[in-house]
Amino acid sequence: MALLDIKDLNVTFATNDGEVHAVNGINLSLERGETLGIVGESGSGKSQLAFAVMGLLARNGRATGSVSFDGQQILNAPLKTLNRIRAEHIAMIFQDPMTSLNPYMRVSDQMAESLMLHHGLSKSAAVADAIRMLDAVRIPDAAGRARLYPHEFSGGMRQRVMIAMALLCQPEVLIADEPTTALDVTVQAQIMALLAELQAELGMAMILITHDLGVVAGSCERVAVMYGGRIREEGPTGPIFADPTHPYTKGLLAAIPRVDQKGDRLSAIPGSPPNMSNPPPGCAFCPRCDFALECCATERPVLTGFAPGRTRSCHVAIDTVRAGIPDTEQETAP
Ligand SMILES: Nc1ncnc2c1ncn2[C@@H]1O[C@H](COP(=O)(O)OP(=O)(O)OP(=O)(O)O)[C@@H](O)[C@H]1O
Ligand SMILES: [Mg+2]
Repeated sequence: MALLDIKDLNVTFATNDGEVHAVNGINLSLERGETLGIVGESGSGKSQLAFAVMGLLARNGRATGSVSFDGQQILNAPLKTLNRIRAEHIAMIFQDPMTSLNPYMRVSDQMAESLMLHHGLSKSAAVADAIRMLDAVRIPDAAGRARLYPHEFSGGMRQRVMIAMALLCQPEVLIADEPTTALDVTVQAQIMALLAELQAELGMAMILITHDLGVVAGSCERVAVMYGGRIREEGPTGPIFADPTHPYTKGLLAAIPRVDQKGDRLSAIPGSPPNMSNPPPGCAFCPRCDFALECCATERPVLTGFAPGRTRSCHVAIDTVRAGIPDTEQETAP
């Protein structure tokens, strides 16, 4: 049994412009100790997928389907169950550390609070544990710095504090939602190395949400590529990077920023993402796809296995995508 099992997960938001279909029919599983990367352009549903798992959707959001942790159903579970799961088993870190840090409390106090509340430790034992964890995320002079407020830390150090806070309860699963995008490149690399080290040490599984395919290549065993709220391709990272079989994955890999380009957002595929309040009937990537066939506009492709551990949802033949020449061009070629 997988540690975390997501089945047919859908997330919709009620808005004045109608229903936004942010996450559609997602199936994913995570084994103990494994790292799964989730990539996709802005708006593809990565964060809402994570928020649904954690029970953190905005008030206008609704999740359907199933998410089980260690066999226990946690999707839309009562708050008491969710609080226990979040305090003991699944932790999340966010792009902006201030999402999870309280600006008005000393770091040691906020870290100790959760240990006292959920693990029944005394104040002094909880503070000692907090300092140990700040030390583990390599914050120099952890005992002294623990008395500071979050704003007294630099960006990278604040990210470390957030990681320390998330790992205090020794979770079995860590969901990291773009944990390093706000940081400069050197600090990003340090934080990723730290996460990998802590992951190995604590034996936890991780879902790493990122725009950075370099980070996925370096840290994830498996990767799921999302577009328009659906998984387009999923499987072991090495084979997907070496042999992408979905035109979108291929586009993402080709869009990896070069040194002469600024920024690290995946934006080099021409066109814009689909309107999720009015998703197209066929493949949502069709309007931007160089390989699109007639049926792509009207028939939604189904995620199908084609090699051990690998799935894709695309009407275009794998060999056509591999060759990089659309069928239409092949036909008209002299
Ligand atoms: N509260 C909300 N009400 C309506 N729509 C929402 C709400 N929250 C998110 N959405 C929509 O859900 C879709 C998916 O958003 P999500 O935050 O998961 O994207 P993402 O893949 O994490 O993007 P990014 O890489 O920019 O973080 C987007 O179209 C977004 O506008
Ligand atoms: Mg996001």
